[in-house]
Amino acid sequence: MNIIAATLVLKLALAAGTAQGETTSEQAITRAQGMVKQLGSGLKSELQIAVKKSGFVGAVSACGEIAQAKAEQISQANGAMIHRVSLKTRNPANMADDYERLLLERMERDLADGALKEAYVEVVVKEGEKSLRFMKPILTSAFCLNCHGVESKIKPEVAAQLSSLYPEDKARGYEENQVRGAFSVIVPLGR
Ligand code: HEC
Repeated sequence: MNIIAATLVLKLALAAGTAQGETTSEQAITRAQGMVKQLGSGLKSELQIAVKKSGFVGAVSACGEIAQAKAEQISQANGAMIHRVSLKTRNPANMADDYERLLLERMERDLADGALKEAYVEVVVKEGEKSLRFMKPILTSAFCLNCHGVESKIKPEVAAQLSSLYPEDKARGYEENQVRGAFSVIVPLGR
C-alpha cells in the first residue's frame, strides 16, 4: 500500500516535470509489457542461479529479497508500478488489492474454461487520474512446487525455512498449471 502510494506520487511528480506529459495507452501497454518481461525473466534466472548455488532452502531467502528489490527497481526506472500479487500470498506485501483480486478470480475461471488470456488490460479512472492497469497471469510449473506445492512435494527443511521467514505463508498446496498469481502493473496516464 505504502509502496504503491509512494510510487504513484513519484510518477506524478515526474509527469508534472515533463513538458509534453501525456502517455498514450498504447505506449503504456508497451511499457507494462517490457516491465513484466524484465521482472519475469530476471526472477526466473536469479531463482535458478540461487537454487543451483545453495539449493531450495538457500533460494527461499534469496528469492524473497531479490523479488522485492527487483520490482522496486523496475518500477522506479519506468515511472510506473510493478509487483507480483496473489490470492494466497507468501509475503503479505504481495496481497492483491480489490481490483487485482477480481482479476485473479477471473483468471482462475478463464483457465478452467480454457480461455486464459496472455494479459488483462484496462484503463481506469480514480479521483480524476487515469491509469492503465495491466495484469499477466503467473502459472505454476513442476519446478515451483518445490516451494509452493502440496506438503509431500516440499522438502521438510524447505518447509521449515518457509515457515520461519514467512509465518503467514498461504502460498502452498498448489498443483502444476494453476494460477499462482499475476504480475500487476499500474502506469499513470495523467488526467
Ligand atoms: C526456492 C523456493 C521457491 C521456488 C522454487 C518458487 N518460489 Fe515463488 N516464492 C518464493 C518466496 C520465498 C516468495 C516470497 C517472495 C517475496 O517475499 O516477495 C515467493 C513468492 C511468489 C509469488 C508472489 C506472491 C506471494 O505468494 O507472495 C509468486 C507469484 C510466485 N512466488 C510464483 C512462483 C512461481 C510461478 C514459481 C515457479 C516458476 C515459483 N514461485 C517458484 C519461493 C519460491
